[in-house]
Amino acid sequence: MNNELFKGRDLLAMDDFSPEELVHVVGVAEAQKRMWATGVKKAPLVGRTVAIILQKPSLRTRVSFEVACLRLGASPIIMSGPDGAFSRGETIHDTAKVLERYVDAIVLRTYAHATVVELAAHASVPVINALTDDHHPCQGLADLLTIQERFGRFAGLRFAYVGDGNNMANTYLLAGALTGMHVSVASPQGFEPSADVVARATSIAERTGGRVTVVNDPAIAVAGANVVVTDTWASMGQEAEHDARVAAFEPYRVDEALFSKAEPDAIFLHCLPAHRGEEVTDGVIDHPRSLVFDEAENRLHAQKALLSLVLG
Ligand code: CP
Ligand code: NVA
Repeated sequence: MNNELFKGRDLLAMDDFSPEELVHVVGVAEAQKRMWATGVKKAPLVGRTVAIILQKPSLRTRVSFEVACLRLGASPIIMSGPDGAFSRGETIHDTAKVLERYVDAIVLRTYAHATVVELAAHASVPVINALTDDHHPCQGLADLLTIQERFGRFAGLRFAYVGDGNNMANTYLLAGALTGMHVSVASPQGFEPSADVVARATSIAERTGGRVTVVNDPAIAVAGANVVVTDTWASMGQEAEHDARVAAFEPYRVDEALFSKAEPDAIFLHCLPAHRGEEVTDGVIDHPRSLVFDEAENRLHAQKALLSLVLG
């Protein structure tokens, strides 16, 4: 696939890429990761600048984007906390029109997904979603890279997500459907993923040979899975709901008994940060088949590939 196709593109949700484009980005990330490890250190973005706006806390996203920029030769400008962009009531439109005069791309972590959509609509430079309440496509890219490295394929793999029907569930539904995986999501009643995303994923899966299932029973989702994934029970912005959610989510903890229902070579993934003892036990997150730290490393490689493609 021609890399030129990606120049100037936004990434707001996984299905901004076609199935072929998504697999291509993962392939570029895998190739670049291998080249870097063998000492081939290219810096194709010298002289370019990337604004990174973080309106929620972050460890992985912040550091991996900053290091990705530095390794590519680009200069990152991090704006986080109350002194950052949007802090004085400036509109999204005006912020986009100002930033596009200075920088070559904008990376945004925010609350409402509509914010990143509006920013992208007004900015003439690529906008990359670094997590919203509804989607986390950069994490999706890293997770696909991790799966590709382990299994060498996506089509037909069984992917089980257990827990809140949140931004990660949405991301996996779309990523799995686009790559022809069989995605099962098990969430407590009332916490299922959004009907809109399930419909989008189902329609994509019809074209790719994938499959999308939403259930309430975690054992059904995990039975025979190749990839088992979970996420926090209360996402950023939902901290006040945490205690009230625990009772509903207790049966959704990924423990050794649940993980053992997956295939004998199944891997465990978690976008992190993990809440050990809540959504996952130490026995699973520290299991020899838990790849959570490879997954975290792969944020860097996936974002290097993405930035190098959209900035051409
Ligand atoms: N997984 C992830 O996005 O981590 P951070 O919230 O630390 O960036
Ligand atoms: N669902 C989590 C993901 C963190 C990377 C959150 O939004 O807080």
